[in-house]
Amino acid sequence: MSRRRSTERLGTDPSSLTRAVELLRAGGTVALPTETVYGLAARADDDDAVARIFAAKGRPQDNPLIVHVPTLAAVAGVAEPITPLAEELLRTFAPGPLTVVLGARPTLPRRVTAGLDSVAVRIPDHPVMLAVLTDLGVPLAAPSANRSSRPSPTTAAHVLADLDGLIDAVVDAGPTRVGLESTVVDARGELPVVLRDGGVTREQIAGALGLDPQLLEGRTVDRTADGPADGVRSPGTRHPHYVPALPVHVAARGDGVMTAGRLMAEGDLPSGPGPRGAIGLVTVGGSMAAPLPDGVVLIGAPRDATELAAGLFRLLREAEALGLAVLVVEGVDPVGLGRAVMDRLERATAASSRTA
Ligand code: TXA
Ligand code: MG
Repeated sequence: MSRRRSTERLGTDPSSLTRAVELLRAGGTVALPTETVYGLAARADDDDAVARIFAAKGRPQDNPLIVHVPTLAAVAGVAEPITPLAEELLRTFAPGPLTVVLGARPTLPRRVTAGLDSVAVRIPDHPVMLAVLTDLGVPLAAPSANRSSRPSPTTAAHVLADLDGLIDAVVDAGPTRVGLESTVVDARGELPVVLRDGGVTREQIAGALGLDPQLLEGRTVDRTADGPADGVRSPGTRHPHYVPALPVHVAARGDGVMTAGRLMAEGDLPSGPGPRGAIGLVTVGGSMAAPLPDGVVLIGAPRDATELAAGLFRLLREAEALGLAVLVVEGVDPVGLGRAVMDRLERATAASSRTA
């Protein structure tokens, strides 16, 4: 990776957004805010521009990108046919944290879809992203704006930590609202198939379609599969997502202090260079009554699954930056947004135990 470019820091004022559009129009790469996480955007109709996204991220070529458009009408510019299911989902949840997988128009560069005959499309719910899309008038391919296998960025500082010198610009619009990525749904058939849990919950999808949520569960792709069986439908599951620099433990709700205390007492911790104690702790729901054991640092205390979702990737990055040896995170019920939160936490624990 060569960090040769100087990455422009842009704000959200009109002249900054004009500059972002100018860079994108010329085939450049610009990190833009969405309501979920920051995306690394380039024009989706330009093979060379899309190649720059893969190069900057160090992303495997066989992992396709999400195409972002500003309106329902523009979905038809990249996907066909628009199934009744997709129409219903988009009418209900767009703009918002939902991505639909549909048949790809043959005019899309194959690099965007990694050679698949399907394309993932979404209409993001962020005024800056929508303004840029509208002004540019071209769909934007945009994966999360992190180096491959790093946590998705929820601030412009996270983007720069991974990609400074590798991309043309970043537009800083403050922290993103949802904090986890969009829900990816295969909408080519009659029933939705959830390929990745995210900002729109299964309960919301089932409710909008008048379906029994159980039916949705039954059609779930096994996201733990690394093998070829599900890999074709959900290409992202083939790749280790996020590999934390420190082991991550999930504790039961209300049990974080005990768990951290026990790990501390067991000793034998990988030695962290951090000055402030070896174990980081994230509690959920203000359950922390007991005093913290020596060497345990409380780095976050979200009130519920929604707040944990909003802060999770930031907390993972902070735990790494503090040089902590271990991070203990209290889990949440795997319902609603909690399902996506637990999915990301399970990936982090699985990856950290593979490397430990
Ligand atoms: O919230 C989000 O979705 C963010 C923002 C920037 O929009 N984007 C994002 O992109 O998370 P990325 O590339 O990090 O994740 C896209 C996921 C990957 O797991 C990829 O494999 C899957 O969507 N995907 C893309 N195209 C697909 C397709 N044609 N069929 C199945 N899965 C697809
Ligand atoms: Mg990503």
